[in-house]
Amino acid sequence: MRHRKARTVGILTSGGDCPGLNAAIRGVAKACMGTYGMDVIGVLDGFTGLVENRVMHLTERDMIGLLTLGGTILGTSRNKPHKMPRADGTTRDMTGAAVDTYHRLDLDCLICIGGGGTAKNAIRLANEGLNIITLPKTIDNDVAGTDLTFGYDSAMFIAAEAIDRLHTTASSHQRVILVDIMGHNAGWLALGATLAGGADVCLIPEIPYSKEAVLKAVESRRTKGRRFSLVSVAEGARPAVPEREVPVGDGPADQATEEPLETVTSLSLATEMEAALGIETRVTTLGHVQRGGTPTPTDRLLATQLGCTAARLIHENVFGVMVAVRGSRFEPVPLDQVAGLKKTIPLDHPMVETARMIGVCLGD
Ligand code: F6P
Repeated sequence: MRHRKARTVGILTSGGDCPGLNAAIRGVAKACMGTYGMDVIGVLDGFTGLVENRVMHLTERDMIGLLTLGGTILGTSRNKPHKMPRADGTTRDMTGAAVDTYHRLDLDCLICIGGGGTAKNAIRLANEGLNIITLPKTIDNDVAGTDLTFGYDSAMFIAAEAIDRLHTTASSHQRVILVDIMGHNAGWLALGATLAGGADVCLIPEIPYSKEAVLKAVESRRTKGRRFSLVSVAEGARPAVPEREVPVGDGPADQATEEPLETVTSLSLATEMEAALGIETRVTTLGHVQRGGTPTPTDRLLATQLGCTAARLIHENVFGVMVAVRGSRFEPVPLDQVAGLKKTIPLDHPMVETARMIGVCLGD
């Protein structure tokens, strides 16, 4: 009797890193190996490793200590197989090399852990006939088709804690402090941290802001005797000029998905606020601190459950999907309902309503 080869699963992490990536790798690998007897191969540095055939075989021992570890043991990159950078600054379509590596490794499925950009790369590989499953990660929480991405809760924890700490120094010096918060073109992280940390003003890409509204909010706090204010500024926040409006909901992704945006808004706004109100104003940029370190328990749990669901889907031969969390359920969503879309905050979202009800100025 011929012995059937164990199924082999490849796994890679792509796009900006976030807390929970290692927990997701561990969830996939433990369930694949332990429950289904599959072999697991880690592909290094995102799609670059797939193109260049750089991999490592993963064992159960490699999973020790991963649950709480920040970053990704596999490494990551923002490279796309169809646009691999060359030394001379041009790009080259290396999709064929990525497909070859998949077949050379005799993979039965490739799990791509990433955000919106990763889903776009993944669907291209699925269209080449590869069995692909994606898992949604990003501190931005902007992946379409899923209620949540892992990484978001950890980043919100870090940003909320920063706002807590900025409160005491702003209050001691009677200052206005603007806090730059990541999130590309979505305001989930800034708004979540604002509500959890108690900032007074929150500027998000979904609601173009008026400088006058921000000044009025800070001035009104001053007249009530509150001599300091905290202003959260999402990196995609923009003043209200019609041509910069951003689509709301599961809309088309910005052409420049995952390209970093300029963060000039808070610096120029701070200068203008100081001049207009005569209150000392400072800017704090949280930057990549928001993506570092150990994941929160919520993200560990989410990443583990997403990873285990992916293993089950492989076992059931369900491919070409992202594993989404919807309510308390984990379910597959076809990749074409994810790739190329971006989930921004709907204007009637409960978090927007909550912010308004507790008097947070949203800049409009
Ligand atoms: O996608 C996550 C994210 O941190 C965004 O919030 C931000 O716009 C971008 O990545 C920053 O990218 P990089 O780490 O490449 O500078």
